[in-house]
Amino acid sequence: MIYSRIVGTGSYLPPRVMTNADFAARLDTTDAWIRERTGIVQRHIAEKSQTSSDLAFEASRHALAAAGVGAEDMDLIVVATSTPDYVFPSTACLLQSKLGVKGSAAFDVQAVCSGFVYGLATADNFIRAGAAKKALVVGAEVFSRILDWNDRGTCVLFGDGAGAVVLAAGSKPGVHASILRADGSHSGMLSVPGNVCGGAVAGSPFLQMNGQAVFKFAVRVLEESARETVAAADMQLSDIDWLIPHQANVRILDATARKLGLPSEKLVVTVDHHGNTSAASVPLALDEYVRAGKIRAGHRLLLQGVGGGFTWGSNLVTL
Ligand code: UT7
Repeated sequence: MIYSRIVGTGSYLPPRVMTNADFAARLDTTDAWIRERTGIVQRHIAEKSQTSSDLAFEASRHALAAAGVGAEDMDLIVVATSTPDYVFPSTACLLQSKLGVKGSAAFDVQAVCSGFVYGLATADNFIRAGAAKKALVVGAEVFSRILDWNDRGTCVLFGDGAGAVVLAAGSKPGVHASILRADGSHSGMLSVPGNVCGGAVAGSPFLQMNGQAVFKFAVRVLEESARETVAAADMQLSDIDWLIPHQANVRILDATARKLGLPSEKLVVTVDHHGNTSAASVPLALDEYVRAGKIRAGHRLLLQGVGGGFTWGSNLVTL
């Protein structure tokens, strides 16, 4: 049997930090409201000149270095993003060029905040099928570009960043199981309902969200997805060393861990200093905990995404 294994992680945050006080200075909001309702204290915001492929490039460099491999060794590059540099070509092709290589397959995955989990499952399937030996999977976002900065209900929630992993074929898992789900009937709950048409944006270029509906949906499906994925891997929830859910709101994270009976020590939380970075949130959180020496080789991780589409899913991984 061929399995895939994460052999290196990396991430990148743009240097500019925006605090809750920065929002309170220009909007009808407070640091206390944002902290209490979301757990967010600060987020990073890309410079105007920085695109998703720039952030992806930095995260990829770190992941490749950690894995001790070169970009030329990649057979596949998957970038999960909802904030691509262009309509086309894909951000993955732009990243491939920035990495100075050519020839590998490269494409984007669009599953909003579940994008990294979808991308990891996709690359895992390539490797299991023997269609790739090494793959770079990246989540990269500049959500600051699609926020209405006058809408206090959404603009305080998000941040920019990128995270990446290198997957390699091996004889032991690695990725034990991935389960991906979607329900397009909820597309209106969280969306940027616009497109480029005839030289202008048709519809809206800004993120719109029914926050309370998203909250309830997320808590329900994160629990379901965790149980389903653990069962598919023939394991128990008690086998999980670290739960790494999409970082949207600390209350969603706490509720999920509580419903699953997992102690707070096993819950990875970075939303306080990253905000919600959509497809970048899970690999950013993973890399931070790996580099801090908290997540180590042999640990069992449950990575989870939920977001626009609606999409959701989990990957159960032994590092
Ligand atoms: O990646 C997945 C995407 N997103 C999520 O997972 C987000 C899921 N949802 C949430 O995290 C929460 O629903 C929010 C943080 C978005 C909102 O928290 P909430 O506890 O559900 O608040 P709410 O929407 O019920 O709003 C409560 C009040 C409202 O005022 P009224 O109508 O009670 O007078 C809002 O207008 O809070 C008001 N409010 C704010 N007040 C101060 C909304 N945003 C703000 C703000 N500052 N930034």
